[in-house]
Amino acid sequence: MDKAMIDSTKQDKHTVVVIDDIPSNLLYFNDALTGFGYATITAENGKQGLEKINVILPDLILTDVNMPEMDGYQLCEAVKGNPATKDIPIILVTAQDDRDSLIRGLSIGADDFLIKPVNPSELQARVRNLLLVKDYRDHMKHYTAELETQVSLRTQELNQAFEELKQVNLQLKESTLDTIRRLSTAAEYRDTATGAHIWRMSHYSQVVAKKIQLPSEEVDKILYASPMHDVGKIATPDHILLKPSKLTKEEWSVMEEHTFIGEQILSGSAQLLLVMAGEIASGHHERWDGSGYPRGLSGENIPLAARITAVADVFDALTTKRVYKDAWTTEKAFEYIKNQSGSHFDPACADAFLKSRSEIVGIQQTSPGQDN
Ligand SMILES: [Fe+2]
Repeated sequence: MDKAMIDSTKQDKHTVVVIDDIPSNLLYFNDALTGFGYATITAENGKQGLEKINVILPDLILTDVNMPEMDGYQLCEAVKGNPATKDIPIILVTAQDDRDSLIRGLSIGADDFLIKPVNPSELQARVRNLLLVKDYRDHMKHYTAELETQVSLRTQELNQAFEELKQVNLQLKESTLDTIRRLSTAAEYRDTATGAHIWRMSHYSQVVAKKIQLPSEEVDKILYASPMHDVGKIATPDHILLKPSKLTKEEWSVMEEHTFIGEQILSGSAQLLLVMAGEIASGHHERWDGSGYPRGLSGENIPLAARITAVADVFDALTTKRVYKDAWTTEKAFEYIKNQSGSHFDPACADAFLKSRSEIVGIQQTSPGQDN
């Protein structure tokens, strides 16, 4: 294949491959098509024409039917059978003005016919029409490919943005939880040496929330909100909070205020986690029978999250040594939860706690530190 031929396809005009074994016909078609403004490449038989077609990928093929080596029908089959060339339109030029030849040509994929002798105006019209169809088909092919590329690019960009957003959300969630943990620990440090109590009671609360089959988002919220239950103790004076002996009635009133203060610290937030934390802070000393504080709420008037944490908080307080008391045995503490079901505790929460004994004991044993 000579270089001039390949270069001709790069020009901004349609390229037509013309194949005919009779030199005068080849010259006729070549002159006519050049005169119409097309670039042409000529070949003297089907075999030679096919070699050029496979390299050039022209816009149209105009071929004689009766030729040595490879005739027009064979050429047509070869072109239409190759995925790279199958969309190139083919005009068969024949002297056989019979129906069978035309049908055979159409059945193997020829796009049009010209009967010799060929009229120049007819040649121009048929070539132009087929090129219009090919241009439209090429345009749609490129348009579809471009569209697919754009969709794929946009999808990648969207996926990347979504991933970044997920990471930001995770970081934001982690930073919020970290702040909550530190705030809760700050309050906890007032009356115990470590944050072990809030770690254990929040995990006990999580176990109960799971056992009563709350949705997983609610279970998570209870795990993260319950450590803030005593945040109001930040405002309780040391001489009351750390008093090793029994509190007077007045001192007890001050102590009870940690529920209201916690509620005030946590109220007014749009964050559902803090809303729940506020409910727990104000309600974790309420009792099922209405004998608790600060409001004396009873039954289901006490928010569920507070009813859950009440069991967890009391169990951990009982099983932990404090300045004013020894630690109860696990057995005795479980017995207390059982006995107080329906009076101090919501029976459903107490029942769930008792039925989760092995998990509760597991949390006790893996606690990160000891209080006092
Ligand atoms: Fe408390």
